[in-house]
Amino acid sequence: MADREGNIDAKDFGIGIPQCSEGFFLKGNAHVDWGMKDRLSRIFNPKSGHTVMLAFDHGFIMGPTSGLERMDLTIVPLIPYSDCIMCTRGALRTIVPPTCNKPISYRFDAGTSILTELNDQVLQDIDEAIRVNASLLACMVAIGDPKHEGITIRNLTKTVDLGTRYSIPTLGVTAVGKELVRDARYLSLASRICAENGANVVKTYFCNEKFEQVTNSVPVPIVIAGGKKLGERDALEMAFQAIDQGASGVDMGRNIFQSDSPVGMILAVRAIVHDGVKVQQAFEIYETYKNEHK
Ligand code: R5P
Repeated sequence: MADREGNIDAKDFGIGIPQCSEGFFLKGNAHVDWGMKDRLSRIFNPKSGHTVMLAFDHGFIMGPTSGLERMDLTIVPLIPYSDCIMCTRGALRTIVPPTCNKPISYRFDAGTSILTELNDQVLQDIDEAIRVNASLLACMVAIGDPKHEGITIRNLTKTVDLGTRYSIPTLGVTAVGKELVRDARYLSLASRICAENGANVVKTYFCNEKFEQVTNSVPVPIVIAGGKKLGERDALEMAFQAIDQGASGVDMGRNIFQSDSPVGMILAVRAIVHDGVKVQQAFEIYETYKNEHK
């Protein structure tokens, strides 16, 4: 207990100096609670405003995806290079070292696999997300899927309600069925619906035309999924274009862990996302690392 005797009188009241009232760096999140801002500031770098999330949650619908057969060998070494990890509770408890201290984008929904019909999702218990200290609740939304659109929207709104109760922000993940076209019109519609239903961040895909329309029509930060494996230069070009056109980061999986130099690739992606380097320079970062670590 503080000593009551001999206290020095308080006198530095800064009279005449207005109290600092800092804004918040992240689009659309100026009015969320302190706890949410704390979590978002651990995911997004407050200096660059951007993030490199490493996604390895594919197994929850795809099983042992190429590159994720032994996540202890392939993913754990990559974690230190990420700003945030996106994974399931199974991956967390089995292979992710709790000492890694990375914010977790937690796969909060679970659902049907690639062997049946995708998108029939259910939500987990919020207590479980709190137990693993999740920083972001990821929930998939299947806009345009006649059978599952409603259920996935309800999942999103429930996730936002639960997350808001405990100040854990929500990541709306737009799922695009095979029959839907990933163009700016669809992606902005799906992403905007996520934001309007309360998602603090939206994950969607990049499109070659009018991607700026997607980022501008959504009032919260957008991170792009990498999608299927591309050549390294093409994947870096996609990351560059996305950031250049207003994305706040990447949530990338296969284009990193399926690369012939996963560390080289994530370093190159980081240089684009955080340092604004051009594609050629990023590609050189990837090649240099690859050649020096053969
Ligand atoms: C999306 O729902 C998946 O679970 C992945 O997290 C996402 O697709 C990102 O991974 P990739 O860059 O391999 O597409």
